Amino acid sequence: MDLIVTTAQQTIPCISRQAEEIAKRLAVPFIPRKHSSLAALKEQYGINQLIVATANGPVVHTPAGEYFFHLSMAELRIKNIVNGNHDHMVTAMNLRTGMSVLDCTLGLATDAIVASFVTGETGRVVGLESSPIITVVADYGLQHFVVDSEVDITSALRRVKVENADYSERLQAVADNTFDIVYFDPMFREPIFKSSNVNPIRSLANMQPLTAEAIRQACRVAKEKVVVKEAAGSSEFARLGITTVVGGKYSSINYGIIDCQQTLSGGGLP
Ligand SMILES: C[S@@+](CC[C@H](N)C(=O)[O-])C[C@H]1O[C@@H](n2cnc3c(N)ncnc32)[C@H](O)[C@@H]1O
Repeated sequence: MDLIVTTAQQTIPCISRQAEEIAKRLAVPFIPRKHSSLAALKEQYGINQLIVATANGPVVHTPAGEYFFHLSMAELRIKNIVNGNHDHMVTAMNLRTGMSVLDCTLGLATDAIVASFVTGETGRVVGLESSPIITVVADYGLQHFVVDSEVDITSALRRVKVENADYSERLQAVADNTFDIVYFDPMFREPIFKSSNVNPIRSLANMQPLTAEAIRQACRVAKEKVVVKEAAGSSEFARLGITTVVGGKYSSINYGIIDCQQTLSGGGLP
């Protein structure tokens, strides 16, 4: 990997430790910052991206901008749920306290945090992410980020278990009916948001489209449903043989739902 990990110029021992741990995890060099600028480090090591350990966690400097952990819409979605409003993903999954979810495309973990909040202490959420850099950012944020809120969102973050794995391989090793829900939110073919923290992910993420084989494996692993998030009107649903598609009337996002119980009772896998 053409990457180094460093720290801010003024640093403290715990941030140097964070940088060393991340470098070890990614098997890339840790370079003490000293007085070098980031541009000078990039030039010296012939790289176009690097990770800077900071008091708020790792920040990935990519040519497309900075990528770091943040709650995105998770806090707002959770507060809406607490206030009795409905969340399209939660409804598509028919998600309830105590359920288990395998999120095959963890990314920034926004959906996993919402799922973890809804399933609660008795539930289980596992997130798979194939990009090692995105995995490190999500894992660090989920373990360290503290949410200053009356609603206990911090515990929901801590409960999400993260694995750096490609779902195409990992699903094959999961036993039948292990999770209630298996969820996919692949990278959209075209970005629908122009926000500055969405575009950097495109340079780090696995852009492979979802395959029919992965859906077949997911149907075997899920007890209740396989749910796929895609841009509204996406031809991906038809390509993958998913016929039940839901979403808000004005939403740019749709959820494809495969009911695994119906599938088992004779519908056949897509
Ligand atoms: C659109 S993002 C997911 C966003 C996430 N649902 C959230 O709420 O933050 C898609 C993520 O899935 C990851 N991904 C794509 N294909 C994958 C695969 N085969 N195995 C594991 N992760 C994958 C990408 O690297 C990317 O981080």
